[in-house]
Amino acid sequence: MSEKVRVGFIGCGGIAGSHLTGLAHMEDVQLTAFCDISAETAERRAAEYGGQAFTDLQTMLDTVELDAIYLCLPPFAHGEAEFAAIERGIPFFVEKPVGLDPDLMKEIASRAQAANLLTCAGYMNRYRNGIGRAREILQSDPLIMAHGGWVGGPPNGSVPIHHWWVVKGKSGGQFHEQTTHTVDLVRYLGGEVVEVYAYGARGFNRKAMAALPQYDMEDATVVNLKLESGAVATLYSSCAAAAGGGGVILNLFAQEHTILFTGWEHTGRFLTAGSPEIIEIRGERDIFAIEDRAFINAVKTGDRNLVRSSYADGVRTALVTLAANRSLETGQPVAVKW
Ligand SMILES: NC(=O)c1ccc[n+]([C@@H]2O[C@H](COP(=O)([O-])OP(=O)(O)OC[C@H]3O[C@@H](n4cnc5c(N)ncnc54)[C@H](O)[C@@H]3O)[C@@H](O)[C@H]2O)c1
Repeated sequence: MSEKVRVGFIGCGGIAGSHLTGLAHMEDVQLTAFCDISAETAERRAAEYGGQAFTDLQTMLDTVELDAIYLCLPPFAHGEAEFAAIERGIPFFVEKPVGLDPDLMKEIASRAQAANLLTCAGYMNRYRNGIGRAREILQSDPLIMAHGGWVGGPPNGSVPIHHWWVVKGKSGGQFHEQTTHTVDLVRYLGGEVVEVYAYGARGFNRKAMAALPQYDMEDATVVNLKLESGAVATLYSSCAAAAGGGGVILNLFAQEHTILFTGWEHTGRFLTAGSPEIIEIRGERDIFAIEDRAFINAVKTGDRNLVRSSYADGVRTALVTLAANRSLETGQPVAVKW
């Protein structure tokens, strides 16, 4: 590896920008190449951060030497990029959710494992101090029940992501695409999910349907989850609350501890039985930079313990949210199986 970690991006839209802001300030990172099916998007990133722009990922990989690749692709666009990275032995970071097709994701995970490749799934909340503290607490005082989710306003087409996000066949729906963060935290803090049962509401989101005629997903979803440990959770999504008042929530209840996370930053309040004290751990605003630092350090040192969610771990979270989608379709509880 060269002195600097040479990083390439495949998919250079919104979330790529969040990673680039932090990576651009890391002295040991060289932003080397940008690939996007939109030439204008790739060229804009190259103009801003240096490096070369490409519209074809194989051409990019044939042209430049890379030590790490960020895959910042919509859920429906995975496969070719992961296989190319594995074939060339280049560690990759992939944004959540890591895909839409269980068989494809399992194949990627198995080939990455066979190649013994360092991978990272973009579940940045795992790097928060408050989440780390909650994990420590719940290891000795196990989770009994959790509830939480993401409630936001109607998508209106003001940002590019909205255009594919509202098409269920492209994003997987809000629960799969966004509440995946909360599902992932329940797994990280409470252990594996073995069964889900979902209900969905449709047809209410007039504002989203008017702004984006392709809108065809649930306006709201409520999902019950059964964990391997015997604990239970209810997680929900809605993107129809134009008046606000929703946000990001994860409340966790154990015998001796209650842990309440609120907001995108996941600021945590920690309550302990028998103690009047409530401890607050504020969520980090620069969490993408923290996550990126961990991944880059892992690439440099080979220390995989620095990465808190591998690609395969990301697949496990996706299998839960896709099981919820199957439950919506069938009206039945669905077992979550690898
Ligand atoms: N971690 C987070 O909190 C977070 C936040 C936002 C988005 N995301 C995730 O990041 C992913 C991308 O979202 P986004 O907001 O950047 O979307 P976006 O629509 O803004 O950008 C996606 C980009 O990928 C490009 N693209 C599509 N197919 C491609 C292909 N085959 N090859 C190369 N480029 C291709 C598009 O042209 C676009 O520029 C999604 O999975 C989303 O869930 C994660």
